Amino acid sequence: MLVAPSMLACDFARIGDEARRALISGADWLHLDVMDGHFVDNISFGPDICAAIRRAVGSDAFLDAHLMVDAPDHYYPRFIKAGVDMITVHVEREKAVNLKSLSAAIRAEGVQFGLALNPATPWEIMQPYLPMVDMALVMSVVPGFGGQKFMPQSLDKVRALKAWRETNGARFLIQMDGGIGLVQASLCGEAGADCLVAGSSTFQADDMPAVIQAIREA
Ligand code: DX5
Ligand code: ZN
Repeated sequence: MLVAPSMLACDFARIGDEARRALISGADWLHLDVMDGHFVDNISFGPDICAAIRRAVGSDAFLDAHLMVDAPDHYYPRFIKAGVDMITVHVEREKAVNLKSLSAAIRAEGVQFGLALNPATPWEIMQPYLPMVDMALVMSVVPGFGGQKFMPQSLDKVRALKAWRETNGARFLIQMDGGIGLVQASLCGEAGADCLVAGSSTFQADDMPAVIQAIREA
């Protein structure tokens, strides 16, 4: 299991130190939650902060950018320039954004492409895109804020995506994001998730390395 602490839950005044603290504590990836105040009802940070995090952690760390924005097709080049390793966009924007072209454009730059699914969105909408994604992200909270309660209904989508992946010989990772602590991590693992995003449960823990290790092994 990969563990990706969400920087949304860190102390923004010390963001570089916080990013390094997560990595020293055993984080596999750093999850960067980008919010534009349109797609979700919150504004977090953009490409300049992602670039600052990249400078703080050096070239080896894996930066996973989760774009909760209306126009990922407009903004993605700035995140590539910032040095992220993966860009995940929301399938709910499929009518406004050509997701197949976007996947091709992002992958052509050597950056991985992920597709995210809100709790209210049926997983089947992702099906036409699954052959061209590196990761499917199943949201287990309504996106916009950290510290919300895990929605167990999302586990069914993980099982369905895993079954689809097996049937179709695909290789994408399955990530879950929102409300994940130790108890939820074991449910996510049983359902078939490969990567867990954890914000509050990691950054607000007294012993971050122990929590990351426990989530990984849950
Ligand atoms: C929600 C974000 C999540 C969130 C996770 O919009 O996508 O990544 O910050 O934080 P916790 O783990 O606190 O739910
Ligand atoms: Zn996220």
